[in-house]
Amino acid sequence: MEVILLSDPSAVRLLGARILAQQLRRRPDSVLGLATGQTMIGVYAQLAGMQLDGSQLTCFNLDEYVGLSPSHPASYRAYMEQHFYEPLGVNRQRAFVPDGQADDIEAECARYEQRIEAAGGLDLQLLGLGEDGHIGFNEPGSSLASRTRLKTLTPSTRAANQRDFGDGTTPLHVLTMGVGTILSARRVLLLAYGPKKAEAVAAMVEGPVTAMCPASALQFHPACTVVVDEAAGAHLRLADYYRTVYAHKPRAARERLEGPA
Ligand code: GLP
Repeated sequence: MEVILLSDPSAVRLLGARILAQQLRRRPDSVLGLATGQTMIGVYAQLAGMQLDGSQLTCFNLDEYVGLSPSHPASYRAYMEQHFYEPLGVNRQRAFVPDGQADDIEAECARYEQRIEAAGGLDLQLLGLGEDGHIGFNEPGSSLASRTRLKTLTPSTRAANQRDFGDGTTPLHVLTMGVGTILSARRVLLLAYGPKKAEAVAAMVEGPVTAMCPASALQFHPACTVVVDEAAGAHLRLADYYRTVYAHKPRAARERLEGPA
């Protein structure tokens, strides 16, 4: 893993947006795997201000709640409309979110995997990180070889996401790409900030690979970049080493990832 430690959340959001922008410039018809959550709101806002054309993109979201209509304000489809599709002019024919209202959930999950494959696979998968080490909605105990399927949320994830549901309750079930689906992406970019993520970041980067921290499976990915702020990286034993590696990263390699300075 390439670990990049930055001073604060705004620096993480900016670098995240720059890496995505560089991907779009290099390949305007990229196939992107996209994430939701609080972390990404600021990233997408930065990206929206970069005058990019997203009309040739194909987008696949990580996850969606089961039983929620796409027009429900807490649905991930509604989130993507507001924060990504609309500002970047994404063609909705190529904007996919798992259908949590499908009658046949298993068939929907299989179809989702087939669609990703038919699109040529994910060029870049963007990820946030759950406080319990989840990626997408792959909760602790998830198979590290899993593909898109139905999952049950843990009480801690439901509590964390309750903010989006106001007086209603966070659904118990979700559809999510599997850890195996995420690992199949050609490149992975994970962003996290704030002290609440510190334990999960350390477990993901430096802990053993274990289903108890699904994000730790990213250690097997050959092209995974993790961008965190100092607070989220506070428990990293090799923090100084990561800072040195990034500070001395060859300019050409840096520009390839982030675009021109
Ligand atoms: C949520 C989402 C993830 C997201 C993560 C972190 O439950 N399913 O895709 O990346 O948890 O969320 P946040 O950025 O709000 O901390």
